[in-house]
Amino acid sequence: MARILVTGGTGYIGSHTTVELMQQGYEVTIVDNLSNSSIDVLDGIAAIVGRKPEFANIDCGNFVDLDNVFKQYPDIVGVIHFAASKAVGESVEKPLLYYRNNIGSLVTLLEVMQLHKVQNLVFSSSCTVYGQPDAKHLPVDETAPIQKALSPYGNTKQINEEIITDAAHADSDLHATILRYFNPIGAHPSAHIGELPNGVPQNLLPFVTQTAAGLRPELKVFGDDYNTPDGSCIRDYIYVVDLAKAHVKAIDRMLHAKDREQVEIFNLGTGTGLSVLTLIREFEAATGQKIPYTIVGRREGDIEQVWAAPKRANEVLGWKADTPIRDVLASAWKWEKHIRNIK
Ligand code: UD1
Repeated sequence: MARILVTGGTGYIGSHTTVELMQQGYEVTIVDNLSNSSIDVLDGIAAIVGRKPEFANIDCGNFVDLDNVFKQYPDIVGVIHFAASKAVGESVEKPLLYYRNNIGSLVTLLEVMQLHKVQNLVFSSSCTVYGQPDAKHLPVDETAPIQKALSPYGNTKQINEEIITDAAHADSDLHATILRYFNPIGAHPSAHIGELPNGVPQNLLPFVTQTAAGLRPELKVFGDDYNTPDGSCIRDYIYVVDLAKAHVKAIDRMLHAKDREQVEIFNLGTGTGLSVLTLIREFEAATGQKIPYTIVGRREGDIEQVWAAPKRANEVLGWKADTPIRDVLASAWKWEKHIRNIK
């Protein structure tokens, strides 16, 4: 069976994608430098799938190390590139680290892929490239204008998309699928793998589950004076397992579809926007846990509202994010209880 190289495969989305790939019969080699993930994730994957993926503890910005991995696994037919630094605030403090990690690793990866004639790349991008879309572009489809990034992190996603497009333009054998994720949440239903935030979570749902677990006294809701029905921000929260399945569809398509374009872009979301306050209510209903919260001022750089038009992914990839939100929120709580040893 075909082998897929998954960079950043011990991370949050990478580990869930590895599970789905293996369950669909793909062989997987993970490369990860464990800078923001744990080696134990491999055991979690094995507990679900029944076997461990291959693993190399390397930095994919290191040409020699990456070249060795491709030499060791000559059956690699495609790459899913997750490995990247992803903390927005940190990227503002340490822009050069972000440009080095996120740009350098993609350039190295593309060079090594070309050397080994591996011609299929799936790239992990973000809806952050759309910034705050105009009302006429909501929900956001793939033709909405790209807006100037608000952080070095967001800029690395935009630049990486451009690098891929330029590389494909120069090399007609290179095929790429750019996946723009909305807000991934939840954990595998088995609770063997899930999100492991570093320090105080910056993203909403990990903060909610840690509050429910008693690690945080209360959630701060960043603003209730936005121009939305309840005044809090709106996002498209997508279940990480649904998101992972989209990657398998993208790989299947790259390997088998005859009619594909050289570079294809898909928005991956549910098509439904939920406000922060609605998400809290849904979490309480799904888990029976009360979430204490206070409304505080807006968070700098926050987007008011954004949600996806996932029609292209639905039709072309034959994929849909359809797990009910309460099941998704229950999976996040099950995972939090698992890692905190809560009964
Ligand atoms: C954030 C990043 C984005 C990144 C994405 C990855 C920022 C400005 N943007 O997006 O670049 O691609 O994560 O998932 O950091 N909220 C609270 N209280 C909290 C935490 C969040 O009210 O303690 C609110 C936020 O104001 C926002 C919503 O919850 O309205 C979702 O926040 P978050 O999970 O950080 O995601 P994004 O802001 O969409």
